[in-house]
Amino acid sequence: MSLLTVSTVAELREFVQQAKFKGLSVGFVPTMGNLHAGHMSLIKHAKKHCDVVVASIFVNPLQFNDESDLTSYPRTLEQDQALLTDNGCHLLFAPTVAEMYPNGQESQTLVSVPDISIGLCGGSRPGHFDGVATVVSKLFNMVQADKAFFGEKDFQQLAVIRKMVQDMCIPIEIMGVATERSSDNDTAGLALSSRNGYLSPEELTRAPVLYATLKEVAAAIQQGNDTLSTLENAQARLTQKGFKVDYLTLCRQSDLKPVTADDTQLVVLVAAFLGKARLIDNLPFPLNRTND
Ligand code: PAF
Repeated sequence: MSLLTVSTVAELREFVQQAKFKGLSVGFVPTMGNLHAGHMSLIKHAKKHCDVVVASIFVNPLQFNDESDLTSYPRTLEQDQALLTDNGCHLLFAPTVAEMYPNGQESQTLVSVPDISIGLCGGSRPGHFDGVATVVSKLFNMVQADKAFFGEKDFQQLAVIRKMVQDMCIPIEIMGVATERSSDNDTAGLALSSRNGYLSPEELTRAPVLYATLKEVAAAIQQGNDTLSTLENAQARLTQKGFKVDYLTLCRQSDLKPVTADDTQLVVLVAAFLGKARLIDNLPFPLNRTND
């Protein structure tokens, strides 16, 4: 089957209904386009777990709190279609803003996931996760897939979506996929992201420091070092390397709340500006507390 691109909900529904009528399972990969190897890893996972793979490309205005960020967000449809074709995606849903928000964005019913949307990226981008939860719940209703695939790079986003699906009893299985990282010599370890495109060649060579720092923090905490001073020292090192740190913090994985003495599944998360680019990354890790 070659890639079919549709832009209306009616065409999308028709395609998915036919697949389901044939007894095929449907996997869904929502994206904002400008696709790279990280997205292709989601497509590969979807193909492994489902018979038919639907991807969407929609730069969702509702989740941007900065107008210039929305306008400058890279739109590369033809290149994206070629990548999706090469990786065996079956259907691309690429709606217009009017198709997604026919009654206008202002009067759109909002989905808001409390607690977990506050803080971290939700702190610096107010309303961002309401925009994400709203568009993702609409897309889930439009596609009616069996499983949906999201990258763990957006750790808070994944947690928000899992909570939304649970709270709203949405009949879909959420699959988290490990962050895809650069294996090039100059940028090894850097999490793949559309926002890396905003980095100058010189900034690109410095950007892997972000992940290296997360690994150092995780190792130090696993060795029993004090959390606060570990984070402070790591933040100082990032600042010295020219990053403007938005947050660098340790949370428990389940709900991104502060770590308590009983928690063993932790995650260190970072958001930092390097030049124009706001980069995010995280590293989940276990903590063995038997020696405490
Ligand atoms: O992660 C993204 O690309 C977007 O936030 C998503 C999930 C496609 C919703 O617009």
